[in-house]
Amino acid sequence: MKFIHLTDTHVIGGNRTLYGANPARRLALAVDSINAEHGDAAFTVVTGDLTHWGDADAYAAFEAQIRRLAMPLVLMVGNHDDSAAFADRFPEVARDEHGFVQSRRETPQGTCLFLDTKQPGTHAGGYCAQRLAWLKRQLEATDGPVFLFMHHPPFRHGIKSMDAIMMQDHEAFWQVIEPHRARIRHLFFGHVHRAIFGNWRGISYSCMRGLNHQVALDLVSDAASIPGDLAEPAYGVVLCDTDCVTVHLHEFASRAPRFPLNASEHEFGEQYATSMVHPGFRDL
Ligand SMILES: [Fe+2]
Repeated sequence: MKFIHLTDTHVIGGNRTLYGANPARRLALAVDSINAEHGDAAFTVVTGDLTHWGDADAYAAFEAQIRRLAMPLVLMVGNHDDSAAFADRFPEVARDEHGFVQSRRETPQGTCLFLDTKQPGTHAGGYCAQRLAWLKRQLEATDGPVFLFMHHPPFRHGIKSMDAIMMQDHEAFWQVIEPHRARIRHLFFGHVHRAIFGNWRGISYSCMRGLNHQVALDLVSDAASIPGDLAEPAYGVVLCDTDCVTVHLHEFASRAPRFPLNASEHEFGEQYATSMVHPGFRDL
């Protein structure tokens, strides 16, 4: 099974730029890339922060691009989203009995649970008793493998400004998932605007870069400063079988030269590799 992990698209209205980049344009390029290169994906999931300011114009601009995807789509919300404006534009999106944007999807490789960690009035994440009860029921309804998707991570990763706005209810969350952790195959999230990979209490995880601005690697600054940069946008290409979950980071808009590493090697040997020139490419 293949699926696409897209996150933190941060679209704004009016075809304007945000921190010097155009998020709607970048989303358009991402959709083109996904359709052309990964049209066989089972689905694409967007793990929140679909828009930057949560206004109707931004959701309209987001919709104009995301609806072009050729495969099923799962939309989630993040701290930058507005639940009411999102619902106006995407009324068909599944919700739980309390209106949270939470749903499940059965796949040949396991059950996907899409969680709503948005907490009104703050950029930090939350997961209240109502949502915990929903998650507990979902986990108890299957004894097979599970994939978790959420916007906010439930653990610290070392960048203090983002650690400060992680999911705040992480221990209550852990109490619900801990009895099932052996069959939770992977945890996918966004929010951090970086590609980070690791393991939390035995559960493997990955976070993708955003599509517009990124969070720079800064393990020194205090929580008041959010370090940003415009590193290449990327989405995740996830391959799953019964043995393995592999997450490829795809810098879909990269202009870095591409070339065969081994073509002509038998004819030219070292000369092929050492004489290669890529016009305009900065040599390190
Ligand atoms: Fe974000």
